[in-house]
Amino acid sequence: MQSLQQKASEWSGISIDDAFAIDDADLFHTLGFQTFVTLSTNFYNRVYDDDEEWFRSIFGNSEKEKAIQNQYEFLVQRMGGPPLYSQRRGHPALIARHRPFPLTHEAAERWLHHMAQALESTSAIDDDSKIKLTNFFRHTAYFLVAGVEVKDQNHHTPCKDAAQHPCKN
Ligand code: HEM
Repeated sequence: MQSLQQKASEWSGISIDDAFAIDDADLFHTLGFQTFVTLSTNFYNRVYDDDEEWFRSIFGNSEKEKAIQNQYEFLVQRMGGPPLYSQRRGHPALIARHRPFPLTHEAAERWLHHMAQALESTSAIDDDSKIKLTNFFRHTAYFLVAGVEVKDQNHHTPCKDAAQHPCKN
């Protein structure tokens, strides 16, 4: 059976090697903490201002400031910086945490559209880092779409509080 990673590569068009080039890059040290704060702020400003109500409403139960912090702390940690996200929220368990949301291919493309624009408007990010981040985001977006789809098919008990009782992805 195809793994979620393979499915994510097929749907996103990004190979596993390209998606995880971030692991050899240490982007946290190249770009610095503030760049990730700026990137997540630019991203969520766009999401919460989206003209497409169907997409904006996916974030309807989340406070913008909290969503920004969740994202930049995750990115700092994932890109080689201190484990700020796990210290505050526990295991990232991203599939479980996205399970409540309608993660369609269309939603993934809209998310990626806003992230591409946020990357463009974050001037501290050099072109090589931008490519690596874009590949990681694209692959991960489709990894989440595939993961949520599989979990829904299996009718697993939803995680009531993924922060306290992290589900395995
Ligand atoms: C949280 C939607 C892709 C990382 C969220 C939230 C929503 C959401 C509605 C809740 C906001 C909050 O309270 O933090 C989506 C949609 C995606 C997507 C529609 C399209 C595929 C991604 C990707 C990543 C990501 C590609 C990582 C590269 C996160 C993280 C959180 C989060 C770290 C915070 C989780 C928590 O601590 O509760 N996402 N997301 N998401 N998302 Fe996504």
